[in-house]
Amino acid sequence: MKIGIIGGVGRMGSGLAFRLSKNHDVLITSRNFEKAIQTAETLETNARGFHKNSMQGEINGASDEDAIEQSEIVIITLPAEATLPAIQELKAHFRQNQIIISTVVSMKKSQGTFRHVPLSKPATTSFTDETGSMKSVAELIQEFVRPANVVSSFHTVPAAYLTDIEKVLNVDVFVAGNDDTAVSAASKLICEIPNLRPLKVGPLENSRLIESMVPLLLNVANLNDLKEPLIRVIPWIPSAYSGCT
Ligand SMILES: NC(=O)c1ccc[n+]([C@@H]2O[C@H](COP(=O)([O-])OP(=O)(O)OC[C@H]3O[C@@H](n4cnc5c(N)ncnc54)[C@H](OP(=O)(O)O)[C@@H]3O)[C@@H](O)[C@H]2O)c1
Repeated sequence: MKIGIIGGVGRMGSGLAFRLSKNHDVLITSRNFEKAIQTAETLETNARGFHKNSMQGEINGASDEDAIEQSEIVIITLPAEATLPAIQELKAHFRQNQIIISTVVSMKKSQGTFRHVPLSKPATTSFTDETGSMKSVAELIQEFVRPANVVSSFHTVPAAYLTDIEKVLNVDVFVAGNDDTAVSAASKLICEIPNLRPLKVGPLENSRLIESMVPLLLNVANLNDLKEPLIRVIPWIPSAYSGCT
């Protein structure tokens, strides 16, 4: 499978490219094409050293347009404020049966703590639902990329854990989406990264819950001296549920 990562030269995009290239060809993008090519070369060298003979994919640099047009799955790893303007400009390149995974969180830091701040640009989009509640970034992306299906995921996985080859990941990854096939495909990708467990949390609207967990986690980390806290759902009655078939 081919996976495009928009903003893939950044921390989260590089971490995902590093892991997902074990089984897939990954295209990473930047606003600077040369940077995308060079970052891809470095990442692929590192990934080959990590995955060794089991690495089946490649990592290459690409333009946003080519990454979207050539990929079955497109992962968005852009800063929140850049996401809607970028996706609006690229919207003609998305297509039916394509799966778009949003990792984007919109938050701000003020007076030492993080706050979840819903997006409010560009003006062509309705930022609230019929009840007046603010939509998540993932729901807003969905409005631009239709008929492709958006899945919201990976928000609570720290990028540092994906590229630090010494780390053993033991993390639950929430997945929200309206289309069952898209949610299954995203969950399958998550299962390919050792010790990540996908957990369904319902329709795309529930991305509001997932996105708001990130500032919560960062505040917990900063105010309680806990470095890079992760989410793991521990049921009272032990379960062997892996989320992966
Ligand atoms: N870091 C994490 O641990 C983590 C975990 C979960 C989710 N996320 C989410 O992933 C997203 C990216 O986070 P990150 O930490 O990877 O950020 P990052 O390291 O800054 O990477 C984002 C990339 O997007 C590109 N970019 C920056 N501004 C842009 C703009 N105005 N227009 C288009 N492209 C732009 C940049 O590449 P160029 O400058 O080369 O274009 C940059 O490398 C965020 O929404 C974040 O909430 C991050």
